Amino acid sequence: MARILGIGNATLDIIHSVDAYPHENAEIRCSDRVSRRGGNTANLLAVLVQLGHDCSFAGMLTDDSDGRRVSADLVSNRIDITPCRTSNTGTMPVSSVLLSMATGSRTIVHYRDLPEYSFQDFAKLDLQAFDWLHFEGRNITGLRDMLHRSREHYPAVPCSLEVEKPHAGIERLFGLADVLLFSRDYARQCGFEQPERLLRAIHADYPEAGVFCSWGEAGAVAIDRQGSLFRQPAVAPGTVVDTLGAGDTFNAAVIHGSLAGLDTTALLQQACELAGRKCAQAGFAGLVQQ
Ligand code: ADP
Ligand code: FRU
Repeated sequence: MARILGIGNATLDIIHSVDAYPHENAEIRCSDRVSRRGGNTANLLAVLVQLGHDCSFAGMLTDDSDGRRVSADLVSNRIDITPCRTSNTGTMPVSSVLLSMATGSRTIVHYRDLPEYSFQDFAKLDLQAFDWLHFEGRNITGLRDMLHRSREHYPAVPCSLEVEKPHAGIERLFGLADVLLFSRDYARQCGFEQPERLLRAIHADYPEAGVFCSWGEAGAVAIDRQGSLFRQPAVAPGTVVDTLGAGDTFNAAVIHGSLAGLDTTALLQQACELAGRKCAQAGFAGLVQQ
């Protein structure tokens, strides 16, 4: 069991299940509508808790009904929220999600007016208490200072960085993390139609990092620090029910496998297995069987 700190987002997700993704300007009914707590880092920590780790969340909350609901959910998932800051401006980030029953795809429209978790908030934390630090790749200036502080003062604590979107300047953070977790979305927006090509380019510039890229139903690819490339097909669930947070589950499993010292083949395999299992169920509850 490791002590893991995740720095990033918690959100409120409003999820509409639709038979198929609609055309623009259509009016359709959804077959189900649920709202639940989401957010890349919050989801990832919820999975890591189930995998047996002690997790703390450093992010922004609000002192209103949405914020209290999100905090209560984090606490009920046994995530420590003492590193969080409560903002007196803005609202909890909200994702409106269309979940297609035809394909399992999830289309996300995200609203955010909440201030970012700052370097000043982060600097108050005692990082010595943690075995692993995970950073969500956003708020690039703040994150750069956080990563520098972690590297300078706590060089022995491994850091992972999730790279989901090509935020301006995010590449400047790559050299500061031990594990880089790329999304298909990031690869495509950077002009890579195959994960291997992105990872080879990244490895050439940052050979000290283990690099991973998940690719939906095609599985995932990794390059280790020796430059060897590993491919793992997706582990298809019987029926794809809900892919929202599959990437967060994959990333959680990569951190778990790295902490357990798994080799890259075994690590990728268990990450795709767990992410595949997540796709077969709604949400994250009970994902890891005890
Ligand atoms: P994100 O949620 O960030 O978009 P991906 O779509 O890349 O992430 O999915 C992460 C992982 O989840 C993949 O590597 C794969 O193992 C698994 N996965 C995603 N979609 C499916 C699917 N339709 N069938 C089986 N596994 C899937
Ligand atoms: C899934 C997710 C959702 C959230 C959105 C934020 O990966 O974390 O829970 O609303 O992405 O980008």
